[in-house]
Parts: sequence; structure tokens; C-alpha cells
Amino acid sequence: MSTAVEVDDLSFAHTAADLPALGRVSFRVPAGESVALLGPSGAGKTTLLALLDGRLQGWSGRVSVLGAPLDPDRPPPSVRRPDTGFVFQEFALVERSSVLRNVLNGRLGRMSPLRALMGSPTKHDLEIARTALADCGIADLAERRVDSLSGGQRQRVVIARCLAQEPRLILADEPVSNLDPARAGEILALLAGAAQARGATALFSSHQPDLARRFAQRIIGIRGGRIAFDVPTSELNEDATAELYREVEPIPGIGLRAVS
Ligand SMILES: Nc1ncnc2c1ncn2[C@@H]1O[C@H](COP(=O)(O)OP(=O)(O)O)[C@@H](O)[C@H]1O
Ligand SMILES: [Mg+2]
Repeated sequence: MSTAVEVDDLSFAHTAADLPALGRVSFRVPAGESVALLGPSGAGKTTLLALLDGRLQGWSGRVSVLGAPLDPDRPPPSVRRPDTGFVFQEFALVERSSVLRNVLNGRLGRMSPLRALMGSPTKHDLEIARTALADCGIADLAERRVDSLSGGQRQRVVIARCLAQEPRLILADEPVSNLDPARAGEILALLAGAAQARGATALFSSHQPDLARRFAQRIIGIRGGRIAFDVPTSELNEDATAELYREVEPIPGIGLRAVS
């Protein structure tokens, strides 16, 4: 089976940060798998996903995404960008535009530069956008303005926009963290189901073990920028999960002990 993501001995520190955000991270995701990155706030989930999306430079190690190595010194060439879709917590929707327009924005990377500039989709672009809307259960909202939608509906638009892009890899950074538990489950099921139906690989981050367990085939636990465990979901161990969330204990006289 081909490999969607391969990370080998990856380390990275944000500019002006005292500690590295990622330390000696290695893992491999086969094409088509759904994987959760599970860890507490500050673990390095957002950093890792942004790096895989080609948005961070200056790291060490080897990283391959969809068969092509990333360059630690420069962002990936624009022709490769549409193959990776990103879903994140902040919506980045065009508030005053319709749902359909927003979902069509997902097609921009697949359009000729002239069409993208003029914002004139082909019939094919429209078909794909409408299918994405239907798959996300919001076909009836196509003409509604985004600023009139609820949080759950907005997140469905974000996912539909990502699907319209026809990505082979979906990176989702805590895609449901701002929704109530019932809504969060629904939307994550939608994302995982749509990825699977399309044969796309999905890598999503979560700080909630229950959600990760329900929607991923495999769980990578991350804490302090390091991989704590990497197991099939059926083998997720309660103790290992608890350890991931253990408070950093203060050591008298020294202050906070660094998480290593
Ligand atoms: N832009 C930044 N500049 C400096 N430090 C950062 C920046 N973004 C994140 N960090 C630090 O990197 C570590 C990992 O953060 P992050 O990847 O956001 O974790 P998570 O998404 O798991 O909460 C944290 O210690 C955080 O404070
Ligand atoms: Mg984060």
C-alpha cells in the first residue's frame, strides 16, 4: 500500500521559543487510513499539522507528503497544494458570501488561473461543489449567506469546501473543538466518512480521547512535542491515555519541570 505521510526524525522549534515544539517525531500513515493525533493543549498537534501542510520551514529530519519530500527551506510548489486539504478551528469563511460560493472557493486550486481570478467555475466545478454540499447535509443551505448560519452548519461548510478541493490527504486541526459533544460527533463522523468514501487519508488532531477513539483507525499520542504512543484504536490503553494528560509536577525549589 502506498504511503500518504512519512515523517522521520522530525524536530522543529518556533522562532523565539525556548523549547522545541516537536522533537524526534517519526511515524508513517498508509494511504486511506484515518489517524488521530491525540494530546493535551501545547502538545504540538497544530505545529505538526501546519508543518505537513507545508506552512513551516526550518525543521530538521525527513518529511514526505503524498509521495513527495517536503523541503525544509521552502514551501511546496503551488501545483501540489490542492492535493492536501486543511480543516481548522477558525472558520476562515467569507462571511458575506453564500455557502455555495464558499464551497466553490475550495475549487480555486483546481481551476485555471484565469478562471480562478474571474471566479467563474465550470459545470464540473459546480457539480463537485454540489456533491460536497449534499455529502455534508447542507444542500438546502447553498444560497444562504454564511453569516446567518449556526456553528455546526458553518463547520459543515468548511468541510464541504475541503471536499470540493478533492484532496488526497485531509489534515484537520481540532475540527470540532468549538462544538457541543453531539454536534462534534456528527461532524467528525461526516469528515471521517467522506474521507473514507473518497479513498482519502485523514489525519485529525483532538484533545478528546473519546472522539479520537470513535473516528480514527489509529491513534498517535503526543505530549511535549514527542510521540508517546502510536497504536491501532482497539489497542488504546487507559493508562497511556491518562499519562498523556498528567499534569506537569512542580519540583520544589526548581519551579516547573519541563515536559520532555
Ligand atoms: N507561533 C509560535 N511561536 C512560538 N511558540 C509557539 C508558536 N506556536 C506554538 N508554539 C508553542 O509550540 C508548542 C506546541 O504548540 P501547538 O502546536 O499549538 O500545540 P497544540 O496544537 O497541541 O496545542 C507549545 O509550547 C506552544 O506554546
Ligand atoms: Mg492546536
